[in-house]
Amino acid sequence: MAFLRSVAADAGPAVHGNGVHLRTPQMADFPAWVELREASRDFLVPWEPTWPADDLTRPAFRRRLRRYLQDIREDTAYPFFIFRSSDHALLGGITLSNVRRGVTQSCALGYWVGKPFARQGVMFAALRALLPFVFEQLRLHRLEAACLPSNTASIRLLEKVGFTREGYARRYLRINGMWQDHVLYAMLHDDPRPPAR
Ligand SMILES: CC(C)(COP(=O)(O)OP(=O)(O)OC[C@H]1O[C@@H](n2cnc3c(N)ncnc32)[C@H](O)[C@@H]1OP(=O)(O)O)[C@@H](O)C(=O)NCCC(=O)NCCS
Repeated sequence: MAFLRSVAADAGPAVHGNGVHLRTPQMADFPAWVELREASRDFLVPWEPTWPADDLTRPAFRRRLRRYLQDIREDTAYPFFIFRSSDHALLGGITLSNVRRGVTQSCALGYWVGKPFARQGVMFAALRALLPFVFEQLRLHRLEAACLPSNTASIRLLEKVGFTREGYARRYLRINGMWQDHVLYAMLHDDPRPPAR
């Protein structure tokens, strides 16, 4: 953890996978991020918390980055952008949030891929690369994910990665402006997982 914390205090952690790499978002990512989020708005909005009116502005992105770095420093969340290894194109993002230590040792998984890159294996490659970071570097015991019951893509993705369906939570998260029921998935540190690359 000492190693991790010293890295986090600098640029944040990075992870390499099969055709993708993940690293902490930086200010230089802003133009690509705005372009991809804008081009993917209709694809993403049904599955995400409501986008603030100023979400795609540079000041909001700067605030977002400040929060990210603080979260990493405090070991409460680890946000990543996903890039294509061949040309460093921004493809999407993953956030490990709500890190809980003590007797819990868990965190929550959130993710999105840009519309032009959907169904090309990006998130599967990114998640399987990230699992050793979650379980070996952060030394967490449990990784949780929640999906809308209608989100077939996300449910199939989690099941393909090796997550287990554990339950159903009524009006669990406020997604797209409404409290909505979610199916709950989790992976434990010693559950079977796909190889990292
Ligand atoms: C869910 C999401 C992240 C999947 O990312 P992706 O990079 O397209 O997924 P992959 O290409 O790696 O697919 C992995 C597996 O997921 C499942 N899957 C992905 N997209 C699917 C779709 N449109 N329909 C059915 N299954 C799908 C498949 O099982 C797929 O494996 P296969 O191609 O061998 O059949 C992406 O669809 C997305 O960003 N959706 C909008 C935002 C969102 O839902 N976020 C999550 C909220 S819980």
